[in-house]
Amino acid sequence: MQNKDNIKSQISELRKEIRFYDYQYYVLAESKISDYEYDNLYKQLLSLEEKHPELITPDSPTQRVGSDLTKEFLQIQHNTPMLSLANSYDEQDLLDFDKRVRNILKSEKEIEYVTELKIDGVSISIRYENGVLIKAATRGDGFIGEEVTNNVKTIKSVPLALHETAENIPPAFEVRGEVFMKIDEFKKYNEERAEKGLKLFANPRNLSAGTLKLQDPKEVALRPLDIFVYYLLSDQNEFSSQYSNLQFLKKTGFKTNPHYKLCKNIEEVLEFCRYWDLNRSKLTYEIDGIVIKVNDIELQKKLGNIAKSPRWAIAYKFAAQKTITKLKEISWQVGRTGAVTPVAELDPVFLAGSTISRATLHNRDEIERKDIRIGDTVILEKGGDVIPKIVSVDLTKRNLKSKKTGVPKRCPICNEKLLFSEDEVAIYCINTQCPAQLKGQIEHFASRGAMDIEGLGKSLVDQFVDFKLLNSYVDIYYLKDKREELISIERLGEKSVDNLLEAIEESKKQPFERVLFALGIRYVGTGAAKILAAAFKNIDNLIIASEEKIQDVKEIGPSIAKSVKLFFENPKNMDNINRLKSAGVIFEVKGDAEVSDNLANLNFVITGTLKDFTRDSAKSEIEKRGGKVTSAISAKTDFLVAGENAGSKLEKAKKLNTEIINEEKLIELLGK
Ligand code: IVH
Repeated sequence: MQNKDNIKSQISELRKEIRFYDYQYYVLAESKISDYEYDNLYKQLLSLEEKHPELITPDSPTQRVGSDLTKEFLQIQHNTPMLSLANSYDEQDLLDFDKRVRNILKSEKEIEYVTELKIDGVSISIRYENGVLIKAATRGDGFIGEEVTNNVKTIKSVPLALHETAENIPPAFEVRGEVFMKIDEFKKYNEERAEKGLKLFANPRNLSAGTLKLQDPKEVALRPLDIFVYYLLSDQNEFSSQYSNLQFLKKTGFKTNPHYKLCKNIEEVLEFCRYWDLNRSKLTYEIDGIVIKVNDIELQKKLGNIAKSPRWAIAYKFAAQKTITKLKEISWQVGRTGAVTPVAELDPVFLAGSTISRATLHNRDEIERKDIRIGDTVILEKGGDVIPKIVSVDLTKRNLKSKKTGVPKRCPICNEKLLFSEDEVAIYCINTQCPAQLKGQIEHFASRGAMDIEGLGKSLVDQFVDFKLLNSYVDIYYLKDKREELISIERLGEKSVDNLLEAIEESKKQPFERVLFALGIRYVGTGAAKILAAAFKNIDNLIIASEEKIQDVKEIGPSIAKSVKLFFENPKNMDNINRLKSAGVIFEVKGDAEVSDNLANLNFVITGTLKDFTRDSAKSEIEKRGGKVTSAISAKTDFLVAGENAGSKLEKAKKLNTEIINEEKLIELLGK
């Protein structure tokens, strides 16, 4: 019988060896040992630990995959908030950034920057104490995240214990980085799902985010997540620059991205960005830009943060990416208003973070104008998180078999004869019972900007309509009487049904303007709904108002007025409104909505970061007072609200002589 000390040291040796080979393989992507030999070491460790469970420690390589299901992710407050970055889109923005940094620091000298790839994944914070991984948390809202320690431990490139040889390790520190998945691993995983008939993930980022939130670490371990660590948080003074931090992280056993550079000045930063603009497709993972950080940590501290982003760093976002693919077919889709629109069915291609197999063609004119034919090779473009669009046809690749599309005469869903309007390029299905319209209306009613019913998305709505559980959006509020039927639907457990019913109840509290938008009145978007709600105060005033009276409201044009009138003239819609009222949905303006409309007819653009507002809250305050907020500066813009880090918009406003105001002035205008 071996003595305990002997076993302990055997276990410790095995762990050390396995850790070393894990590091070689998962961090450095080199293999120094055969799979067979590695498995042998692992089995030896496993068997010793099985015989001596009291010697198991959480940082043992056998403890990467815990067996316990996570019931609920605990909320964790970050000691230091996880900030986001201000964006820049061109070289001028970066030059402006450099100028700002130098101004604030009052520096005549050039500033040193570190440039890094901006990995398109999910940010994570990991805490180590005495060289051992203690906790890992997602970003959440930047201040409070979710604890996902067990899931992060399954990522083989994340060290559970640091290299014993590593020096200068602070007793406690945090690293931050990006969890991601390689493009080909993502594709492989999606293909496996497709074979099993499961729903596909749109892009590697979504798959990584979804995986980190799984409750079963065993399932997480099956999905090949990876990490790049880019940030060290420690109180120790010797960590004096971002560049030396990255080197320290690498030496200590973390996986850092190899493509970073210490730039002597902003010119070298621009060169780095230009290089990756052209070469990013060579990478095996997705990046969505470059991160530029002031190298000196002391200077970083002097620069500080504004709102949710640091003044010492900025993200440079790449321009739209393009690719070519084949147009296999043109299908016709029926929307919630009955509009029938053409959709390009494409040979799936991977572009800017997601696989694209469909793209809207908007209307028949668009098809004619771009001369798009079935069988064509088309050029597809996608910028940031914008919807992909077909920019043009590669005519050099047009083949003789390519053919023009016909326009349908009957609804592809309900077979009703379609209505072709003279003045509009649109085609309509006028059957109000058409299931496609019904599904679209219900989806719209439940969507984020409308009643915001969490959990009631496209796939549930499709099923509920197909099973005749919903025949109109009003029925949503009567689903509570059908709880048993809902539970019997495949994949809907008791818990999710109860959550859904709760979300439905909760949605009754939505303000009148949202309800008005949710009704799906043609041409009444969120903006018009807000204006109408503020002007008429309740639905009954709006119902009895004449078309002229509606049109008298500032910003409400004749087509909206006519459409509102038509909507209320339809008895079916009136019946729906009455049933919604009985269910307890709010049809009048409550409380503080009564503010002056002193900003009516004024156009605003907001740029940079504001201290006391988020962009959305500033926008909504301006809109409450009748103003309008757009994203681009034009001759029509009355005010540019410029926060910190304002970039190219500020320049444009100067050129156009637009009045530029700061946050204080905005607060004054809002009368706060
Ligand atoms: S630095 C305060 N470096 O981009 C410093 N972020 O928009 C903030 N990201 O939330 C992070 N690669 O998830 C940094 N090399 C990199 C990055 C990076 C990707 C993500 C990160 C962050 C987001 C900021």
